[in-house]
Amino acid sequence: MPEKWLPPIYWDGDAVMILDQRVLPHRERTLRCTNPNQVISAISTMAIRGAPAIGVAGAMALALGARNLSTSDPKTFKRKFSALCEKVKRARPTGRNLSWAVERVCAVLGENPNATVAELEANIRGMADTILNKDIVDNQAIGSYGRKIIPRGARILTYCNAGALATADYGTALGVIRAAYDVDPSIQVYSCETRPFLQGCRLTVYELMRAGIPVTLITDNSVGSLMCQKKVDVVVVGADRIAANGDTANKIGTYMIAVLAHHHKIPFYIAAPRSTIDPTISDGEAIPIEQRDPREVTHFHGRPVAPGGAQALNPAFDVTPHSLITGIITEKGLVNKPYSKAIRKVLED
Ligand code: MRU
Repeated sequence: MPEKWLPPIYWDGDAVMILDQRVLPHRERTLRCTNPNQVISAISTMAIRGAPAIGVAGAMALALGARNLSTSDPKTFKRKFSALCEKVKRARPTGRNLSWAVERVCAVLGENPNATVAELEANIRGMADTILNKDIVDNQAIGSYGRKIIPRGARILTYCNAGALATADYGTALGVIRAAYDVDPSIQVYSCETRPFLQGCRLTVYELMRAGIPVTLITDNSVGSLMCQKKVDVVVVGADRIAANGDTANKIGTYMIAVLAHHHKIPFYIAAPRSTIDPTISDGEAIPIEQRDPREVTHFHGRPVAPGGAQALNPAFDVTPHSLITGIITEKGLVNKPYSKAIRKVLED
């Protein structure tokens, strides 16, 4: 494996550089994006994925777009920029971080009513940089709060990829695991494959191996058996959107693991920054669930694995009810039940 760790997204001068996660772990290819449409396409085709990472990418797409609106009239600039904000928001619907980041960047327009176009461009870029840098700091804080809930020598199960690759760096669920490993190198991780896009197999195992953290890859359908054999002490996963009552959307299959963890009395934690919480959504039923191309299920690396013409469903996320969640680890600390009250409070901090 190459020595140098490539961040999932970064600036190279005025270009947005995106590590193409579709070809990991076998190739490290970086996409150079010089206009917002290239970033939008990278988000919707999952060259970059993971809720916080696509929030950061959305903000950077807007900073790129702001420079190319070809007008010196602030009013025209604001009209065109607002239209671009709507377009970026639609790139992927479930992760709250994308709309959160777009709303924060778009707010720059209202906060600077008398600014020139050059000033607006600079402030928009400043906000995109703030979102990028704050994500890393938040993940480190999630890690330091989260490591306290990991028992000594724990065997931790995680799902999908909620690591450095899914964020600006460090990771949420994998941030907790990184921080726990720093104080207790005897922990071990089980990473589920995560059909159909294989984020667990391709990305989580890659990240943890590079960090030197012991990881064992398992198929998604072996979770129950492993729990039954008492080989899992705690589950830690990320989140795409958390409703006001704590119901949490995450990668399809998370709900299944939460039900199993509940049955086996294994603690089940969510690790996520507050930018994943959507206080405008009262419960999980209202969370929009992205339906992706069935070809991702019927084909693997472009080759069919199902009979030609087979029908398939491909919801990208499911919702875990708050009753199955032991706690939510945020950058402000651990959020416990009852969630409605605790979530309101953590958002005020
Ligand atoms: O479809 P993906 O790969 O974007 O889904 C990613 C997940 O579900 C992650 O668990 C979630 O975004 C949290 S990432 C810190």
